[in-house]
Amino acid sequence: MGPVDAGDEGLRVFVTSDLGVLGLPELLTPIQRVAAVEVWTGFGPPSPAQLREGVRDADGLLCLLTDRVDGALIEACPRLRVISSMSVGVDHIDVAAARDRGIPVGNTPGVLVETTADLAFALLLAAARRIPEADREVRERRWTAARPWAPDMLLGVDLHGATLGIVGLGPIGSAVARRAGGFGMRVVAWTRSGRTLPGVEATTLDGVFRESDFVSIHAALTPETRGLVGARELAAMRPGGVLVNTARGGIVDEPALASALHDGQLRAAALDVFEREPLPDGSPLLGAPNLVLAPHIGSATIGTRREMARLAVANLVAGLRREPLPHAVA
Ligand code: DGY
Repeated sequence: MGPVDAGDEGLRVFVTSDLGVLGLPELLTPIQRVAAVEVWTGFGPPSPAQLREGVRDADGLLCLLTDRVDGALIEACPRLRVISSMSVGVDHIDVAAARDRGIPVGNTPGVLVETTADLAFALLLAAARRIPEADREVRERRWTAARPWAPDMLLGVDLHGATLGIVGLGPIGSAVARRAGGFGMRVVAWTRSGRTLPGVEATTLDGVFRESDFVSIHAALTPETRGLVGARELAAMRPGGVLVNTARGGIVDEPALASALHDGQLRAAALDVFEREPLPDGSPLLGAPNLVLAPHIGSATIGTRREMARLAVANLVAGLRREPLPHAVA
């Protein structure tokens, strides 16, 4: 673990990741002004036992989506007065348990919207136009004089003129819808809140799968959305459909998706998120054809990760001061 700096008021904060990697030397200064800061600098994220040890006597926790903050952990930390996650998703935190203890939970919405929408669109294009396969074709020297340009080489499908279905029309889903308009796509969407958007046709959840050539998932992972996209939904998609998920892996039934790809029910899929991360050996997804995989990089640009870190620090400091967090999970 990194050094513990003396802070005032006797407050202690545990930070589960060395955010120094983001190149913001002053990032933790606002915390250090009010608390002693202990930064986990071990290899990889802390284990559950290491996390418990680090946060046991802490007043504040700044964590990542890789840290499981469950009810038992919260229970074991009597001094805890704020939990701040450097993520918009908070499915790794037992928010209800925190609420019961009166501990506010901060997250980082807003700042990663456009960046994540860009990644969703990159994956749509990569799956539709077979970009990873095309890259391998050149690198692995299969594109040769004996096998040059050919009329049927690496044929994909067009985005323009196709229908994009969006599951979850929150800020990221809406940003994806705007991009789709620019690509000449028809956009249909289902969202739990009933929110509507100009240029986007509202439909049912079933309607999204029935009417769309491409479906992009943008819902939060909750008990209601876990397993929302299963064999039935995938079978309802138009033949040759493409599924993209940049939200949370638990929303999609992975074995069902792998089967739909093997059977050719789906043309392709692209995933940035998985039920278990990192994707474990033996996952049926690893052998599935026409599947583009990315290691949860939706918000991974320098600017966005820095904004997320700044916001996480601001939430933490506000919580330590018992002030309203700039962004608290409702
Ligand atoms: C989040 O913040 O929840 C994202 O998944 C990170 O990219």
